[in-house]
Amino acid sequence: MTAASNPINLFEYEQLAKTHLSKMAFDYYSSGAWDEITLRDNQAAFERVKLRPRMLVDVSQISLNTTILGQSLEFPLLIAPMAFQCLAHPDGELATAMAAASAGVGMVLSTMSTKSLEAVADIGAKFPHALQWFQLYIHKDRGLTRALVERAYAAGYKALCLTVDAPVLGQRERDRRNEFALPPGLHLANLADISGLDIPYEQGESGLFTYFAQQLDPSLTWRDLEWLQSLSPLPLVLKGILREDDAVRAVEYGAKAIVVSNHGGRQLDGAIASLDALAEIVTAVDGQVEVLLDGGIRRGTDILKALAIGAKAVLIGRPVLWGLALAGQAGVSHLISLLQDELEVAMSLSGVAQLQDIDSTLVIGDRKKYN
Ligand code: GLV
Repeated sequence: MTAASNPINLFEYEQLAKTHLSKMAFDYYSSGAWDEITLRDNQAAFERVKLRPRMLVDVSQISLNTTILGQSLEFPLLIAPMAFQCLAHPDGELATAMAAASAGVGMVLSTMSTKSLEAVADIGAKFPHALQWFQLYIHKDRGLTRALVERAYAAGYKALCLTVDAPVLGQRERDRRNEFALPPGLHLANLADISGLDIPYEQGESGLFTYFAQQLDPSLTWRDLEWLQSLSPLPLVLKGILREDDAVRAVEYGAKAIVVSNHGGRQLDGAIASLDALAEIVTAVDGQVEVLLDGGIRRGTDILKALAIGAKAVLIGRPVLWGLALAGQAGVSHLISLLQDELEVAMSLSGVAQLQDIDSTLVIGDRKKYN
């Protein structure tokens, strides 16, 4: 596939973005941990699942509307939390927020953003129903974590999305080789001012790896979730669940939604592909919480497959950075519209006119597993 200067799919966005970004930025965004087995498998898992389309169904009106935690979305998509978006474009997270809210899809802002959580919330506030969640990493300094949660609540975020798969950072060897650090002028916008914390430069190591080791709390357990939930009325979403027993615990400990995720293959290499973990988790939680999925979504058919296996919505990560790198907000808006169009066509060709009609009979696989 050749990438024209006007990309027509998410893969072409990636090819073009590579030529627009510094090697350090492209490597940071695109890499996975160690041998990148899980990174590759996230996409391969979608190729393994086959669709069983229905024929002769009226698909003249396709409806993609849905709700997540009671908030409406134009289609079942959220932007995954991703750090340092100003590495891709000077407008960074502000451009992403504008594109997401204009398209009526959700956005999860990373703790490690390069625009402040308040500035991103101000963009959401311009729209009547922007779905914005705040992603949380828990620092050893619990006072700092408390301050972040209180600020997120005050700013109007609708949920806290706690990443549970990163007690330490996965080892991404390209970052180590590049001695990943933020270029001059970029900072941890939520943290630098109040705490003086920033990504250190370290010879022979990724500065982000060092930051995690020094600042984030690897002693976190289920028991800390009660404390976290006492800090604000925000519903808790747990991101990074890959097993049914953890999913059941998430429900027991009060989570309102789960994101089935392996952090885009950036944490434990060799971990199960997100899509492969989905069915058992959907079965285990039995409708008590909403289940979302990220990892490997590149096509409308991928969204359809995830929904058929039981996800309520999906998150996309890296492609958004490619859109940002190429054209800022316009790039992100365009690739969201590409995915939306592809989902509509995929639904039409599968004989489903609305999301409620998508069920596990639409995919081939272990039928017991998917039911
Ligand atoms: C940060 O969360 C990363 O995955 O780089």
